[in-house]
Amino acid sequence: MSRTVLACLLTALLLIAGALPGLATATDEARPMTGTVLITGSNRGIGFAFARYYTEQGWQVIATCRTPARAADLQALSTEHDNLAIEQLDITNPEQVAALVARLNGRPIDLLINNAAYLGDPAPQEFGQLDYDFFNRSVQVNLIGPLRVTEALLDNVAASKLRKIIFLGSAAGSHGLLGPGQRLYAYRASKAGLHFAVHELSMDLAPKGITVGLLNPGIVDTMGVLDLKPGDPVPDVFKPLMPLIQSGQLKLIRPSESVAGMAQLIDGLTPERAGRFFNVDGQELPW
Ligand SMILES: NC(=O)c1ccc[n+]([C@@H]2O[C@H](COP(=O)([O-])OP(=O)(O)OC[C@H]3O[C@@H](n4cnc5c(N)ncnc54)[C@H](OP(=O)(O)O)[C@@H]3O)[C@@H](O)[C@H]2O)c1
Repeated sequence: MSRTVLACLLTALLLIAGALPGLATATDEARPMTGTVLITGSNRGIGFAFARYYTEQGWQVIATCRTPARAADLQALSTEHDNLAIEQLDITNPEQVAALVARLNGRPIDLLINNAAYLGDPAPQEFGQLDYDFFNRSVQVNLIGPLRVTEALLDNVAASKLRKIIFLGSAAGSHGLLGPGQRLYAYRASKAGLHFAVHELSMDLAPKGITVGLLNPGIVDTMGVLDLKPGDPVPDVFKPLMPLIQSGQLKLIRPSESVAGMAQLIDGLTPERAGRFFNVDGQELPW
């Protein structure tokens, strides 16, 4: 056998080994998993922490937000990293969703993170004074928007290697965690609806090899409550929670901490864990 033929055979064997699960080389195992991730609502809060995390991990990051021109933190991050691209996307706007799909032009998306959501003030969400325009917006952003984006980007995800779609749910939308919480009718009902939609999706997409995950990020300090000084105004939505936070009964975590925990869960998301609801600390939560 000539040296050339031998070299070709060895190359083919190495390629086959790389393509077969279970035959990964030691170098493959040491290499962190990367790919292309698209994140909705990534200009602030948990979405921005996701964008920063995956950018720093060397992923190709498509950070979407409603108003790129006002996304100062994202803009600053993108000047330091050429693996971060900012794209406009209001998830409730069908024209913007279609325009993004067209701009992506079939680009594979390994990981789609449906993060964007609308919590809003508590007052219009109280029974007796429900604001139905507000309620409608909550459903559009928290339930219909993530589905719309997922449907539109399904081919991009299907064309990728990892094929994972993550939804940010909420313990506040869990039927199994009912308790004397806040009466956030619009937020809780829209998140509960999202949970059910994710359950349906996880079954629909499994045959396509797409793994769907539902995560609760914990109670995350996206409003700077941990950094409040005595006398600083407390955001309305946190007012009833402050005694519990101050007594240590309720643990607030920072966005970076939440994202580090969720990224680990996303790495470990297997088809067996699809469609189930996991807390940031890995604990399984009831629906
Ligand atoms: N923080 C928590 O403790 C907590 C707990 C449980 C679950 N979660 C879930 O975790 C996710 C992130 O929460 P967060 O606290 O980081 O939220 P956040 O600070 O309120 O940020 C919400 C993000 O969603 C974006 N957004 C709102 N409407 C949008 C629309 N129509 N199209 C595109 N983007 C839109 C916002 O953009 P603008 O700046 O343009 O408004 C913002 O980037 C949400 O799904 C939330 O429900 C959070």
